[in-house]
Amino acid sequence: MITSKKQEMLHVKHLQKSFKDKKVLVDVNLSVQSGEIFVLLGANGAGKTTLVHILTTISSFDNGTVRINGCDLKKNPAAIRAQISLTGQFSAVDEELTGRENMQMIADLRHIDHKKTTIDSLLTRFDLQEASSRLVKEYSGGMRRRLDIAMSFIGTPTLLFLDEPTTGLDPQNRLATWEMIKELANQGRTIFLTTQYLEEAEFLADKIAILHEGKIILEGTPQQIKSLSQINQMTIHVLDKQELDILVNHLTDYDVTIDETNLSLSFPIKSGFQDAFSLLQQIDQLPVTIIRFNQTSATLEDIFLSVVQGGAQ
Ligand SMILES: Nc1ncnc2c1ncn2[C@@H]1O[C@H](COP(=O)(O)OP(=O)(O)OP(=O)(O)O)[C@@H](O)[C@H]1O
Ligand SMILES: [Mg+2]
Repeated sequence: MITSKKQEMLHVKHLQKSFKDKKVLVDVNLSVQSGEIFVLLGANGAGKTTLVHILTTISSFDNGTVRINGCDLKKNPAAIRAQISLTGQFSAVDEELTGRENMQMIADLRHIDHKKTTIDSLLTRFDLQEASSRLVKEYSGGMRRRLDIAMSFIGTPTLLFLDEPTTGLDPQNRLATWEMIKELANQGRTIFLTTQYLEEAEFLADKIAILHEGKIILEGTPQQIKSLSQINQMTIHVLDKQELDILVNHLTDYDVTIDETNLSLSFPIKSGFQDAFSLLQQIDQLPVTIIRFNQTSATLEDIFLSVVQGGAQ
């Protein structure tokens, strides 16, 4: 059932999961409200798919509590399955069926009304109408992915899990998928999405969480995450290539990106006046001419890289 009033749709407390002696989820805590697009970010191997598989009742977990729409996942997995859908990281389409038959199969399983209209409109939206009567084994990778996503939009799941839904899609189809996801959330559905694309998180997310070393180490709206960050980007312009080299040699403790064409370099720096000021004072002692410098707020990508490479701040 879709409710317009905000309520907690997903509640995860002290979730733990190990594979043999490898701890993948150490202590995961999350809360997702209904109608929210929740984006989980994490590096390769962080445990995103492991978490999605647990939340969709595919995998078991060792400790903790999961509640979906108030329903305890361990006690009542069947009730949970009736309310969710999953588009996995790896395609779940049946290669020996046509695109339309795959859609039909899901529509039958979910007992939806207006099957033909729903399927036709999704096939059109995902640009699959023409190919719908061809066997999926003849589809390109992008077409399979689109079909997979279209299948998860059939029916009225309250909570949709999308594990890296747009990986392998071209920009046009990525945008079409983003628009569908936004539309679903506007209708009151809740979306739990994992992605490697920071711009996808930025575009879609009401809330972002970063999973690292088995825990959520940062969580908030994209805006909150950016303002929580202690990191800004410093850019310094100098006179010539030689000065650029001198600066690079001096800034070995920083993760410096060099732009030789513009005779500038950039690096993340702690936000706040003091750090920038003392660094510039040090640079002033070097035989370089600072033509111009500026400090800009960190992008989501800067923050992601800094927390994932440097641990929690
Ligand atoms: N069935 C399994 N048995 C043993 N180890 C596993 C199993 N499934 C996952 N792992 C391990 O758990 C860790 C997390 O894997 P997972 O697939 O959840 O990461 P991910 O964040 O989804 O990565 P990616 O971004 O590459 O999809 C990895 O080290 C992986 O090797
Ligand atoms: Mg994964």
